[in-house]
This record gives sequence, C-alpha cells and structure tokens, in this order.
Amino acid sequence: MASIPPVPRERLPALLRAMPKAELHLHIEGTLEPELIFALAQRNQVRLPYASVQALREAYAFTDLQSFLDIYYAGASVLLHEQDFYDMARAYLERAARDNVVHAEIFFDPQTHTQRGVAMQAVVNGLYRACRDAERELGISSALILSFLRHLSEEDAFATLQAALPLRERFIGVGLDSSELGNPPEKFERVFARCRELGLHVVAHAGEEGPPAYIRDALDRLGAERIDHGVQAIQDAALMQRLAREAVPLTVCPLSNLKLCVVGDLARHPLPQLLAQGLKVTVNSDDPAYFGGYVNDNFVQLFEATAMDAGQAWQLAVNSFEASFVTPAQRAPWMQQLRAVFERFARAA
Ligand code: HPA
Ligand code: ZN
Repeated sequence: MASIPPVPRERLPALLRAMPKAELHLHIEGTLEPELIFALAQRNQVRLPYASVQALREAYAFTDLQSFLDIYYAGASVLLHEQDFYDMARAYLERAARDNVVHAEIFFDPQTHTQRGVAMQAVVNGLYRACRDAERELGISSALILSFLRHLSEEDAFATLQAALPLRERFIGVGLDSSELGNPPEKFERVFARCRELGLHVVAHAGEEGPPAYIRDALDRLGAERIDHGVQAIQDAALMQRLAREAVPLTVCPLSNLKLCVVGDLARHPLPQLLAQGLKVTVNSDDPAYFGGYVNDNFVQLFEATAMDAGQAWQLAVNSFEASFVTPAQRAPWMQQLRAVFERFARAA
C-alpha cells in the first residue's frame, strides 16, 4: 500500500483487534489460565499450594522475571499427559484465532516437564496435534519452537535436544528462555551451533533484564535470527543502528515488560522509539495468562498509552509477517487480508 488510509483515533482499538497478525513470542505454558490449572490439578490429582483460582490469581504480583518464573513453573506442574498439552494448546489457539492471529510460532519448555518424569513425546505430540487440528478446524497456522531453560546447564540442553530429535519434524526451531541475568548466551554456544547444523531456526531471549551485550552475543555467538524482548537495546545507540541495518526482528511484549517491572509505565515503553529508529519490532503476549492480556490487549493498551497511530499498527502487522519463519507464498494472503481490513476501516471513517 503506497499510503496508509487515515483511520480516526476512536476506531483504532477496533482496527487493532480486527487486523490479521502473527504472534511470534508466546510460551504455551504461559497460556495456562488459573481455571485450567485447577481443572488439570483435579484431573491428575496434583496438589497445588493455592486454595482456589482466586488465591492463585492473587499471587500474580511480580517484581521481576524470577518472581514470575517461580509461579510459572509451579503452574506447569499440573501437566502430565499428552492430552493435557493438547488441551492447553487448543485453548490458546482458539483464543488467538478470536484475536485474528493468523499464524503463531509457539515456545514450549520441555525441560520443565521432562524433569518431572513426563515423556518428551507426550509434550511434543500433544502440542503438535493441537496445532494441526486448529489449522484444519479454525484456519490458524502455527509451528513449535523448543526452548532451552538457561538456568540449567548446556549439557542438559544437549540431552534435551537428543531426546527431541526423533520428533525433529514437529518443531521448526529452538529458543532460549528462563532466568537471563547470570546465564549469558555464550553458555549455550555449542548446543546452538549443533541446532544450526541440524537446520533448525534459532532465536533467543536477550535484553529483557540483561544488558545490550547479551543481545550482541545472542546474534554473534548463537546465530539468533530473532531476538525475544530486546528492549534493553534502547540503552546502546550503536546496537540500535546495527539491529536496524540488519533488520533483526525484536519480539516485544509490552504487558510482560510492565508486569515484570522492566518498564515502570506503558506510556514510557521504548517500543515507539525502536519502531521510529527503523527496528523490525513486533507486538506479542509472552505469557498472557499471567500478564493480564492476550496479543490484542497488548496492542490496544500500548496504543492507548503511547498515542501510536494506524500507520504504526500497519507496520507492526507487516513486521509480524516478515519476521515469521514462513515462506513468501504463505505470507501473501495475510498481506492481502491486512490491506482489506485497513481499507474497510478507512472507508467506514
Ligand atoms: N523471559 C524469560 N523466560 C520466560 C519468559 C520470559 O519472558 N516467559 C516464560 N519464560
Ligand atoms: Zn518470553
């Protein structure tokens, strides 16, 4: 589109919700709503340290990444069987389809489950079956990214990769998540090199709480094709220039940053500045069951707080498609749908 049709401000929330988008930073374990945690706990006879759904929800007051991770891993303890993984992913994909997410690249943390004795096959097969069923029944495209836990050793990551290799065709890449500070990218240099040799896509969380140097090292030592979060790049002008020049996608998660106190206030979130400086930024929900909103809530609340406009909405949706690991042929119909939605909103103005 040569120019973006003007859309009045009051129509922006509806436009943000209606526009097709890809979600590229989403931890499936972070979509477990308290109600589903309690239902699975009952089904699997797992005891939870919370008396009720309400008591669990009230514990969602985080001060930093670690305070969240402690509760997130406790919530995941109810997942035991393939059907549990299926039910969790199905619930997310239904929710995402309602948000007009046309494609999702979904992280899963196998070590969180295999450490408790759950079989790798149960995890991957449950998630994969949900993705395929949702594609057929809901028309939403999706793919899985195996994410290594960085607070564990590289040896453990290698063992996890080995265990997942019989299921190699069921995931498209690997990522790196969990406690960032003190667990720099170089700790995983060898296992990521092996993953690249295997033809897997490579992404990594970097610059959420960690310094700009972790973003550089994720690119240079791990070969990351996208940076998850990356918001700390704002502190380093030379890195900002590099990220813009090399068109490195950043999968930014505004409500996550707010809830984990990475930013004090959405109005001061760096995303508009990153976008203005030409970085390939996208908007995502990270762990929506814990951070108070799915992807459309992230868009609407960010735009409300920062006075961003329809031109920026267009750019963010285009970025989400361009940053995804799909073929140009898969992307083309989404771009057409995006154009159609913007034209409809401009005409109605
Ligand atoms: N950062 C690091 N690890 C995670 C996150 C995150 O935002 N969500 C789930 N695991
Ligand atoms: Zn994340």
